[in-house]
Amino acid sequence: MNYHIITYGCQMNEHDSEKIAGMLESMGYQETDDHAGADIIVFNTCLIRKNAELKVFGKVGSLKQLKEDNPEMIIAVGGCMMQQKGPVDELYQKYPQVDIIFGTHNIHKLPSLINQVKHGEERVIDVWEEDKGLIPDLPSKRRNKFQAWVTIIQGCDNYCSYCIVPHVRGSERSRPLEDIVDEVKKLVADGVIDITLLGQNVNSYGLDLDDDYDFPDLLSELAKINGLEKIKYMTSHPKDLSDKLIKTVARNDNISKHFHLPVQSGSSRILKAMNRKYDREHYLGLINKIRDNIPDAVITTDFIVGFPGETESDFEKTLSLVEKVRFDMAYTFAYSPREGTPAAKKADQISSEEKHRRLQALMDKQNQISYEVNQELIGKEIDVLVEGESKKDPDYFSARSDGNKLVIIPAKTKKLIGNIITAKINEAGSWTLYGDIVNN
Ligand code: SAH
Ligand code: SF4
Ligand code: F3S
Repeated sequence: MNYHIITYGCQMNEHDSEKIAGMLESMGYQETDDHAGADIIVFNTCLIRKNAELKVFGKVGSLKQLKEDNPEMIIAVGGCMMQQKGPVDELYQKYPQVDIIFGTHNIHKLPSLINQVKHGEERVIDVWEEDKGLIPDLPSKRRNKFQAWVTIIQGCDNYCSYCIVPHVRGSERSRPLEDIVDEVKKLVADGVIDITLLGQNVNSYGLDLDDDYDFPDLLSELAKINGLEKIKYMTSHPKDLSDKLIKTVARNDNISKHFHLPVQSGSSRILKAMNRKYDREHYLGLINKIRDNIPDAVITTDFIVGFPGETESDFEKTLSLVEKVRFDMAYTFAYSPREGTPAAKKADQISSEEKHRRLQALMDKQNQISYEVNQELIGKEIDVLVEGESKKDPDYFSARSDGNKLVIIPAKTKKLIGNIITAKINEAGSWTLYGDIVNN
């Protein structure tokens, strides 16, 4: 019996898919790369932007014939998109090939839903409107032996006015510190050297708990674990990034010096309309503080262009912020109205053409800066974790720097995979660095 999982969206979804894989394997299923040969196909969906949704409908639609040829095959659709009535109704009514619909709050129920279908129930919809506390700990099938994701906080309470996540992932729920430390110790005993802590806003960690600890306290505890070589985390919200966090990162060698700090816009007026609760000056102040304490920090960000009411002058403030900060890298998005969010109801929506013009201008500027910033690394020796064969060419390995930059190195020996080694950078583009292995 084989399973195939198709995942869209962010690391939370990637990690949920690892848990879905863990559950399916404990039911006796094995993973297959070929969806046509699978007995069960699971979709883990995202609806952060319209195009994420369109992809899901397209792909589920394309399975109609396969399901007709093999009626025993089970198709299950879960994830963020299923927390909204519209997409659920559409899938149920127009896509009879779908057997199971489940949500983000009850992924642990998937095995029993599969059994219901196997025991004759035709189609099952089980979506919980509200979260019922933390999702129980589940076995997860990791992408490799040496890296792991660890959830520290589920949900989001920030309600940025454009964003659907709080509506589909529930309110903020932190896991107890002891549970996280225990999980990480077990992972390290199992060979993991590199962990990424996950939360929509990791800086809110602990605020909802009775105990008196916060995110920097958690980091300090984890940094003490012997054998844990790298601790990364995402995402930090600029409104809550504390001096204590910067100091904790600066003090500990095994905490990554990468700050992914989504700014969204360079205009304080737009930031207010986005309900981000910080302004341009506060953000620039944070960047200075980070660089004063950690001169080699890698700083990356997210931007949304074409938010309702964004004028040319607001957009120019975004461009000028990019020039001021000189980010290492940025993810840039055209604003996509999401049903049920306040921004989608605003009258002053920007045309698609204008959004894409701004997007292109922003990408051009940032790519040039990323290129220049990366040029400065040429000739330098940096530590990188070798992750595996390069997707493009098996003669090369792909590796990641402390700041999460992709570094391509010659594939010398498979023994290097899963180890941190030193690479000397000899070529650099906007997105990728190329290097040679030094004395390994
Ligand atoms: N929790 C994280 C990010 C979650 S979503 C944070 O607060 O930063 C990842 C990114 O998607 C966001 O940072 C934002 O830039 C983008 N995004 C979210 N909603 C969007 C929308 N409606 N349209 C376009 N981009 C959006
Ligand atoms: Fe969305 Fe804002 Fe929460 Fe991030 S912090 S998930 S952008 S509401
Ligand atoms: Fe998408 Fe859900 Fe993540 S909407 S971005 S998969 S939290």
